[in-house]
Amino acid sequence: MGSHASHLVLFLWLYYLAICGSKFVASQSNTGAPAVVQGTAYISGTVSVGTTDVDFICATLDWWPPQKCDYGTCSWSSASLLNLDLTDIVLLNAIKAFSPLKIRMGGTLQDDVRYQTVGDQTPCTGFVQNSAVPFGFTQGCLPMARWDALNVFFKQAGARIIFGLNALTGRTVGSDGTATGAWNSTNAESLIKYTINKGYTIDGWEFGNELSGSGIVASVAADQYAADTISLQNLVQKHYRGFTLTPIVLGPGGFFDATWFPEYIQKSHNSLQVVTHHIYNLGAGVDDHLVDKILDPNYLGGESQTFSSLQTILKNSGTSTVAWVGEAGGAYNSGHNHVTNTFVFSFWYLDQLGMAASFDTKTYCRQSLIGGNYGLLNTATFVPNPDYYSALLFHRLMGRKVLATTFNGTNKVRAYTHCAQRSKGITLLLINLDGNNTAQVEVSISNVIVTQPLNRNSAPLSAKSGDIIREEYHLTAANGDLQSQTVLLNGKPLTVDSSGGIPPLLPVRVNPSQPVTVDPYSIVFVHFPSIRVPACK
Ligand SMILES: *[C@@H]1O[C@H](CO)[C@@H](O)[C@H](O)[C@H]1NC(C)=O
Ligand SMILES: *[C@@H]1O[C@H](CO)[C@@H](O)[C@H](O)[C@H]1NC(C)=O
Ligand SMILES: *[C@@H]1O[C@H](CO)[C@@H](O)[C@H](O)[C@H]1NC(C)=O
Repeated sequence: MGSHASHLVLFLWLYYLAICGSKFVASQSNTGAPAVVQGTAYISGTVSVGTTDVDFICATLDWWPPQKCDYGTCSWSSASLLNLDLTDIVLLNAIKAFSPLKIRMGGTLQDDVRYQTVGDQTPCTGFVQNSAVPFGFTQGCLPMARWDALNVFFKQAGARIIFGLNALTGRTVGSDGTATGAWNSTNAESLIKYTINKGYTIDGWEFGNELSGSGIVASVAADQYAADTISLQNLVQKHYRGFTLTPIVLGPGGFFDATWFPEYIQKSHNSLQVVTHHIYNLGAGVDDHLVDKILDPNYLGGESQTFSSLQTILKNSGTSTVAWVGEAGGAYNSGHNHVTNTFVFSFWYLDQLGMAASFDTKTYCRQSLIGGNYGLLNTATFVPNPDYYSALLFHRLMGRKVLATTFNGTNKVRAYTHCAQRSKGITLLLINLDGNNTAQVEVSISNVIVTQPLNRNSAPLSAKSGDIIREEYHLTAANGDLQSQTVLLNGKPLTVDSSGGIPPLLPVRVNPSQPVTVDPYSIVFVHFPSIRVPACK
């Protein structure tokens, strides 16, 4: 491409910045009428600050039986690994739309699950209610017929599977929750062998759930956990010898602990490919102030400390271990109906995705794909909740490389930028937490090497000719109700079609000489197809 054209486009770009820079800004309205605040997203195009997996988006499936209730409501219905309806067409289409979606199977009860083995005559049934134990259930068993059905379904759906193994087998749990003794790997090994014999593809075997640090119901010391993780890695290496793809080993699937985690990572050494941590930073689902927390930029930003600490630990560990968020539902004990399954939760969720990626988190697993009050899909109807579409847009638009982004003008706008996914250019995610003010956003990108027209022979270049475009995806709540279960994309509701198909997610094309307009309480993905920066090469 000729330098003349490139300068011309750069000129247009600078012109665009100049006119935005001089644009009038209304002061904040006291009358409640919509006002405009101006801000600038500063994007560094020089180097990426993080690299995610291509399939960064992950969602969980849990073990909770229908009898699992929190604060008097039972929100799990038939969404358990043991009883989820695998014939539902919306479920299939919802997973397929990601091609691939990572699915992490696990949760609180996983350390209570036995795997049926060939020739084992012991009855293999679901969980038994027992009010004497912390979460009210004991002794689940995964029948091999169900494991078969799950694997057949996930293969058909194109999902990539992370399976959470029981890490308490063989240990003795004391009255204070301290688990002692080594892991007994016999039952896990038979599941792994069965899985291999059947030809099922598992991308990762995860070790345990929330047994790290002080634990939730039980805890295991970091050095013991590391020794057992090495045993699991040895089992995987032994049984997958000669395979082209060996599953990864992940652990501990627990809450970040600044003492336990570094010791565990250090002592597992390179037997641990991925350190997984869980996030429920909004507190208990029963909290009536969840919406206030979700819309508070300082509250949202607080989680960056955990990401930052873990990133530093990994950098200093001398291992190749990387970090995933293995389970994040925001509000624990199954979320909160009308909050964690409605539009407002996308402010939390998309901010989490952007923040996690900016600290080099490779994968982020949302609790849950379905089940509880925080499913990407409605637990009763399987119809996608707003966060499903938020996840799908993030997956399709935000590529692997993360560009450092700062937003200046108001702290109510959160901004994240990635190189574009499966296309050229970059994508900027803007989240406006302000319910009164529209944000008019300038975009300032350092180190733009070329802004290339879509057709190199087209001349002259101008915004009008359509050579340079900007594609925008505006997400808002239906009827302006933040707690709606319907999200609008560019003003139109997103709904599955009559045959259960996931709708296409189409942008509006915008003249790039205009600033990006982010309505009050809205989220915008902005794809700049013609911006080239060194970090995205
Ligand atoms: C591990 O568990 C298996 C099956 O329950 C049992 O047969 C075996 O003795 C156990 N191994 C140890 C070392 O306790
Ligand atoms: C951001 O805005 C403040 C004033 O609010 C200004 O002092 C500062 O220089 C700005 N930062 C950048 C990078 O322009
Ligand atoms: C808008 O601003 C008014 C006045 O400051 C305030 O009372 C109101 O709560 C704000 N509304 C929203 C949705 O933030």
